[in-house]
Amino acid sequence: MNTPQRVEHAMTDKGYVPLYATGVVEQPWDTYSATDHAVWGQLYRRQRALLPDLACSAFLKAQDAMGMGETQIPRFDDLNEILARSTGWRIIGVEGLLPELDFFDHLANRRFPVTWWIRRPDQIDYIAEPDLFHDLFGHVPLLMNPVFADYMQAYGQGGVRAHGIGPEALVNLTRLYWYTVEFGLIREASGLRIYGAGIVSSAGESKHSIQSDAPNRIGFDLKRIMRTRYRIDTYQKTYFVIDDFEQLFDATRPDFAPIYAELKPHESFPAGSVQPGDRVITRGTGEGWLSDGDV
Ligand code: PHE
Ligand code: FE
Repeated sequence: MNTPQRVEHAMTDKGYVPLYATGVVEQPWDTYSATDHAVWGQLYRRQRALLPDLACSAFLKAQDAMGMGETQIPRFDDLNEILARSTGWRIIGVEGLLPELDFFDHLANRRFPVTWWIRRPDQIDYIAEPDLFHDLFGHVPLLMNPVFADYMQAYGQGGVRAHGIGPEALVNLTRLYWYTVEFGLIREASGLRIYGAGIVSSAGESKHSIQSDAPNRIGFDLKRIMRTRYRIDTYQKTYFVIDDFEQLFDATRPDFAPIYAELKPHESFPAGSVQPGDRVITRGTGEGWLSDGDV
């Protein structure tokens, strides 16, 4: 174990460049400042006030069961005891974004990488990279759900395979992660609810994803998602909706190699498009959309 660094992007003459770090680090809990704990508390309170009407019940239930609270940044060791007993997942500390294959390998072994450091007060509403709040508050609770926990591991295994197949396969698989793990919606008896970590950890997008008329909301479809570009610096133009986590797990059970091969000659879809055959739940008004910038 080394002394942890805070690895963020670099600004160069070519603009924004993401930086990667491979190391696994001990959470340096004693080094968190009063400001760090206060940032956690502020974000935690704000999201927990919003989410009872917006997030799926599995997320809310799991977060309570894990004993995360607003008073201080949780200790990974405490969360790991609970996780170990429920689904066998484990949090590991990391310094920033991981190279793809390292990330997949951790997931395939039920290790979830969590950035050890938290954003600064001036980054409360937006930060380009994942930080401790996004990773811990957003991703870790659903690792308590047995079906979702298995999906995440299968995703990691699939990532290792896609990495061996080639860059196009990885693009397809990354879109699946984006539109499920990060920005997924789920249908519940009370209406549409959030399960994606990128949404539950964002005050603005948690309201937008459920309440705004701007975005499309479309029924989950594996190949459709694999062909759809996405937004990294604005709210999503389209959200995909699952009926339950079993649907997600079942749809991703088949070998993806033939699917990657089938999709290879096809063009990708713009982030905000509606395609023939889509199960449209709400068609977005497109209000506020920027015309460029899909990735
Ligand atoms: N079934 C996928 C494959 O063969 C693996 C996978 C499972 C990928 C779940 C994503 C999610 O590659
Ligand atoms: Fe994330």
